[in-house]
Amino acid sequence: MRIDIISVIPELLESPFNHSITKRGIEKGLCEIHIHDLREYGIGKYRQVDDYQFGGGAGMVLMCEPLANLIDQLQSTIAYDEIIFMTPDGKPFKQSAANQLSLKKNLLVICGHYKGIDERIRQKYVTLEISIGDYVLTGGELAAAVVIDSVIRLLPGVLGDETSALSDSFQDSLLSPPVYTRPQEWRGLSVPEILTSGNFPKIEEWRFDQALSRTKKRRPDLLD
Ligand code: ADE
Repeated sequence: MRIDIISVIPELLESPFNHSITKRGIEKGLCEIHIHDLREYGIGKYRQVDDYQFGGGAGMVLMCEPLANLIDQLQSTIAYDEIIFMTPDGKPFKQSAANQLSLKKNLLVICGHYKGIDERIRQKYVTLEISIGDYVLTGGELAAAVVIDSVIRLLPGVLGDETSALSDSFQDSLLSPPVYTRPQEWRGLSVPEILTSGNFPKIEEWRFDQALSRTKKRRPDLLD
């Protein structure tokens, strides 16, 4: 998979993919990430990328021309499966969308800033608008990092244990059951006996019951 990201603050995207599981996915060649600095496509001596909004109002808007020039250049060699715009008025992001995106080959992610991007870029290029929650971030970079992280870990071969993505919370509309590690006794609290019984069918049953009761209690909406 190849992911291109357009940003006015590319530094924000340097760290998220350079550690742990995502780093391993990139090093194994399962995923390529290319970060593009929109300012390099800015207009004039000051490389302007934003301007005041028509009709007045606070906040600058990312202009059409720098974005269009960069997207056109990328599209001249890459056929994108989706051109994604990160925005709080986008579709709420869910595990099911991560699953779908993980099957794509080429993704382009546009990170907005300030008041947003000129609506005409959304009309002309964007195929998918994603929100990571009902709150407003200063830019789309952190939201893009969340989405991309959740996609990369689903690529076959990225996770060491192939089954572990399948047992994630949300994968079957259930939250994950509780987990424990050594020591078996800690400050008067012990690990549920069933987990040390060696009876794996019973352990699976216990985990399912725990997942179900946790979901009923914390996120009953997931069971609807
Ligand atoms: N940009 C700013 N806030 C955002 C959000 N909640 N989701 C996606 N992109 C954003």
